[in-house]
Amino acid sequence: MCRAAGQESPLKIGSVLREGNGSIREGILVCSNAGCLSEYPVLDGIPILLANLRAYVSQNFLPVLCRDDLTEPMESLLGDCFGPGSAFDSRRQHLSTYVFDHYGDLDPGEGEQSPGPPGSIRRLFQRGFSLAERRAEGPVIDIGCAVGRTSFELAEQVDDIVLGMDLNFGMLKTAATILESGCVCYPKRRGGIVYERRRFPAAFERAEQVDFWVCDATALPFADRTFSAGISLNVLDCVWSPYDCLAEMGRILKPGGSAVLSTPYDWNAGATPVESWLGGHSQRSGHRGSSPDILRSLMSGGGHPNAVDVLELLSVEEVPWTLRLHDRSFMEYLVSVMVIRKKMENGSA
Ligand SMILES: C[S@@+](CC[C@H](N)C(=O)[O-])C[C@H]1O[C@@H](n2cnc3c(N)ncnc32)[C@H](O)[C@@H]1O
Repeated sequence: MCRAAGQESPLKIGSVLREGNGSIREGILVCSNAGCLSEYPVLDGIPILLANLRAYVSQNFLPVLCRDDLTEPMESLLGDCFGPGSAFDSRRQHLSTYVFDHYGDLDPGEGEQSPGPPGSIRRLFQRGFSLAERRAEGPVIDIGCAVGRTSFELAEQVDDIVLGMDLNFGMLKTAATILESGCVCYPKRRGGIVYERRRFPAAFERAEQVDFWVCDATALPFADRTFSAGISLNVLDCVWSPYDCLAEMGRILKPGGSAVLSTPYDWNAGATPVESWLGGHSQRSGHRGSSPDILRSLMSGGGHPNAVDVLELLSVEEVPWTLRLHDRSFMEYLVSVMVIRKKMENGSA
């Protein structure tokens, strides 16, 4: 709230309501500005740090209050009652798709013969990270981490704190449960509204350096120059303002800090209003609606009037990314993987 009004006011722990495994499972964070005193909940170990908290909680009552203790037959019966297209069903579908891709490679029951084997996000991450040179020290951010595999992978690569953040409470709850329990449990969609519960261990080195928070990529609750590096994989075309997302990245990175950004430019008016798309419209113009050209023009030296001049584009590669919808349906994307860097304050590279 204070950041939105141009003021930096750190949050402090107001109350600890429930603890477990040395961390706050339920508590309240309070703004230290005596003129503000806004409260932010920590729920299931996940801080929710959004300026418009009331709107978020009321629009997300299902994931926020959703129980995860249902037996598989009861989940199936309720799923049949809620039916396809319900909030209950879309939550299960999202979990099925992203948990399969993030962790399915660790599932001993997963066959090799699948036409779209799991792990495409891990391969994409490894490719991007191998191209980025880390020049600054300090915390690292995973913007739009979903169910969190890339945050665990980052922690194995960098000896520093890794913050995985997303707007989707249900996905972060899965990530936080894996962090706490070292075990993955998710509904894998077979087809229609038929799901099979999968359960398997998933332990990561340096998991204790990882945490998961609800934040908005277009209005991050961090001071300028907080993070030494970042990744944001396949998020830019899912936020309501891709431009604000880039500008926030330029603000929170330390000078010399690098980030790996990837996107399939799969614009969708339900997620991003057309006016905010980077390309994908206005094919009559000089850039012919080309998203890669517009994104390039938004970096230093690219010539866009609103360019985020502190960011430089160092390299671009095209990499496949596959999402599984059900046993017989896979979506294959070609994503641009970009390495960007924040310029040093004297303007040098
Ligand atoms: C296509 S998914 C990609 C997830 C993950 N990075 C991957 O590649 O598997 C996009 C993610 O961005 C998140 N997201 C959308 N808008 C966001 C916002 N404004 N702030 C933070 N996360 C957001 C979604 O909840 C979702 O988890």
